[in-house]
Amino acid sequence: MKKVLITGASSGLGLEIGKLCEKKKFQVINLSRNKSPFQDIIVDLSDNESISKTVEFVKKNHPDFDILILNSGIMPLEKVGQIEFDIDNLFKINIVGTIKLVNELFTLIKKNKTDLVFVGSTASLKGSDKHSTYCASKHAVEGFIRSLQVELKNEPIRVIGFHPGGFNSNLREGIIKEGYMESKDLATLMMDILDLPKTMEVSEIVINRKKT
Ligand SMILES: NC(=O)c1ccc[n+]([C@@H]2O[C@H](COP(=O)([O-])OP(=O)(O)OC[C@H]3O[C@@H](n4cnc5c(N)ncnc54)[C@H](OP(=O)(O)O)[C@@H]3O)[C@@H](O)[C@H]2O)c1
Repeated sequence: MKKVLITGASSGLGLEIGKLCEKKKFQVINLSRNKSPFQDIIVDLSDNESISKTVEFVKKNHPDFDILILNSGIMPLEKVGQIEFDIDNLFKINIVGTIKLVNELFTLIKKNKTDLVFVGSTASLKGSDKHSTYCASKHAVEGFIRSLQVELKNEPIRVIGFHPGGFNSNLREGIIKEGYMESKDLATLMMDILDLPKTMEVSEIVINRKKT
């Protein structure tokens, strides 16, 4: 049975990925602040102590994970010059916590030949109005992905950059937007990518919204 660790499987895309993994009889372990329908490790990715405790717990109880999906993220929006939200917190959750988790689990990742999936965004690749800090954090995710791909070039470890455009989730306080993609469709795509033979790494995939 495959074991999958997913950050942020308590809602949105992570939740849908977890459901599909369970359908495939994978053991799903969620890492987030709130509980999920799966096995939970409660962690706040903005908190170093919480990350360290999580890493120790994983090393002790789930050292044999096959897939690690780095999906947690937040998206507060303000124009430059008017930003009042906690910028440090945004970077901690969207990139710093992710890097720390991967760094501290790296020995196991190498041992297990773990598939790594990073949920970036189309904001990893372009800028947009009001999204400056979010885009900056997601560009950092892309930088980390590309560098890891270089570092792991000769290892049997796939590093997948998954970059969706807007989809309905709790990211914008649960506001459903017409014409936005659905997280379950994106989750299906991710599972298809993971199902490919280990000899195939989809290094980067960009999924844009399309008007119908
Ligand atoms: N929705 C979109 O339009 C869109 C587009 C492109 C990319 N994305 C990316 O897709 C990913 C999933 O987001 P989503 O849209 O599915 O939003 P969501 O429904 O809000 O899910 C976000 C997940 O991140 C977790 N999270 C937030 N703060 C955290 C923290 N401090 N520590 C640990 N986990 C934390 C949340 O869990 P807890 O609150 O339980 O901690 C939640 O499970 C994010 O990386 C997002 O940037 C979203």
